[in-house]
Amino acid sequence: MPDQPLDLPLEKTPRHVAIIMDGNGRWAISRGLPRLAGHKAGTENLRRIIRASVEFGVKYLTIYAFSTENWGRPPEEVDGLMHILEDVIDRELAELDKEGVQLRHIGRLERLAPTLQEKVLDAIDATRNNNRLILNVAFNYGGRDEIVQAIQHMMKDGVQPEKVTDEMVSQYMYTAGVPDPDLIIRTSGELRVSNFLIWQAAYSEWYITPTFWPDFNKEEYRHALQVYAQRNRRYGGISNVVANKSNG
Ligand code: IPE
Ligand code: IPE
Ligand code: MG
Repeated sequence: MPDQPLDLPLEKTPRHVAIIMDGNGRWAISRGLPRLAGHKAGTENLRRIIRASVEFGVKYLTIYAFSTENWGRPPEEVDGLMHILEDVIDRELAELDKEGVQLRHIGRLERLAPTLQEKVLDAIDATRNNNRLILNVAFNYGGRDEIVQAIQHMMKDGVQPEKVTDEMVSQYMYTAGVPDPDLIIRTSGELRVSNFLIWQAAYSEWYITPTFWPDFNKEEYRHALQVYAQRNRRYGGISNVVANKSNG
């Protein structure tokens, strides 16, 4: 069957989509598989969702792959997740590059093995001129950690308190220069933010689905974007329709 187009007016397509890729473990357990099999399946799915993002015209995609809290998992799982990141770079980089994907990292690299850090930095460097899709990989990322670092940097730079503005704080975040996420998708049904983009998500729309991440396919992604397109983003104001009515 040929692919259906997204069928949304361009201005209704979110520019920046962020995804909390949750539920790999439960996906695996429900099939009697080890948790790591769930992470592998989740990675396979990621490749599909990256391609769909390019096709749907999303410009920025931020994916939550490993949080600052995920270090608290059993060492075998943490190790497995590190290896998956390494494998993904090895196997997917050439293809992503060909498709015009620019890879970026948000979070702290310091705690990763030096060889892995180098691999990440090389991948970022190799794709830096691509601009079809900016893919921010949140790995060893924590929203509070990001804010703490931003404050530390501002203080080190000697920024005077009265000079601190909303825009300046944004410029001190890992996501400096990237528009805030329009839509945040969380799979597997949990109703929490889990320390993801807590500054940037101030006015993001949410799409939360019970689907486990490995099963979140292109069709549901399309549906999420269509649901987003129906939302009325008011930013604390009143809707255009109501405003126009009361004006006229
Ligand atoms: C998300 O899946 C992936 C990571 C956090 C690395 P989980 O591993 O959290 O899966 P559940 O929530 O236990 O099912
Ligand atoms: C959030 O999922 C982190 C990632 C998807 C990488 P978690 O599974 O770690 O979040 P909690 O523990 O359910 O809040
Ligand atoms: Mg989880």
